[in-house]
Amino acid sequence: MITTTSASHLIRKKKRVPVEIRRFEDGELYVRVLSTPAKIVLLAGLQPPVDNIIETLLLLDALKRVGTKVHLVITYFSYARQDRITKKGEALSAKVIANALKISGAERITIIDCHSERMRQFLDFENIIPVKPFLPYVDKKKLVIVAPDKGAIPRTKLWQQYLGVPIAVMHKYRPSPDKVAILGLKGVIKNRNVLLVDDMISTGGTIIEAAKYLKKKGANNITVAVTHGIFAGNALKKLEKAPIKNILVTNTLPQKRHKLLKVVSLGVMGKELGVRG
Ligand code: R5P
Repeated sequence: MITTTSASHLIRKKKRVPVEIRRFEDGELYVRVLSTPAKIVLLAGLQPPVDNIIETLLLLDALKRVGTKVHLVITYFSYARQDRITKKGEALSAKVIANALKISGAERITIIDCHSERMRQFLDFENIIPVKPFLPYVDKKKLVIVAPDKGAIPRTKLWQQYLGVPIAVMHKYRPSPDKVAILGLKGVIKNRNVLLVDDMISTGGTIIEAAKYLKKKGANNITVAVTHGIFAGNALKKLEKAPIKNILVTNTLPQKRHKLLKVVSLGVMGKELGVRG
């Protein structure tokens, strides 16, 4: 297995195939694979975006040149949220990154919790949405699973298959890219404990506004479960002030210790990700 720098926290050093990655004085990256196995898993996180995307593309190219077949496992696909044109003149960023990955020649691509199914227009990949790793930390008592927006509905249904508890859906509106307003809720949450599920927390706006709304409408304890914890800027500080009991987050991105966070390892999913052994 090879990892990009951003995914190196996921694998013990001795399990990694050695690569040389360094930076020239002008800021460019240099990549060389130091072993040439016939097949390999490349575990790559594309966050923070710029260097990690370039590092992944350079590793894919280096592996292609030595004839190694690659199963690319993307732990976090950045730019996936810009997967459609909403205003004339915009770039279709998700497609640009997908195209770059496509021509770099991985044999198989798995993405952990890709933001949107629309990505399938640009790239062939398997999507893995982790639920099982969270289950030991979820109490089903008086629980309702809540989608903070309609995009999260399939996720709530997936969770429901494991937990067998009711679902509720919120109506989210974004007045601007980093602002969130909750306009309504379908389902019963009063006097129930809530499990708010989403693919990621970035600025925290979605989860904070959702939690405030749910509390106002009479919810009991609110637990959040997200795959990717970006926690951009001062998101964690803002989340501390929201009516949230705790946040379950996977280790797709490295996380610092924080009183709100329970970091859940995806190690248990190694087989599904094709990265064990
Ligand atoms: C939106 O469609 C996503 O699923 C997340 O709800 C969103 O990206 C979270 O971003 P933020 O934390 O900035 O509200």
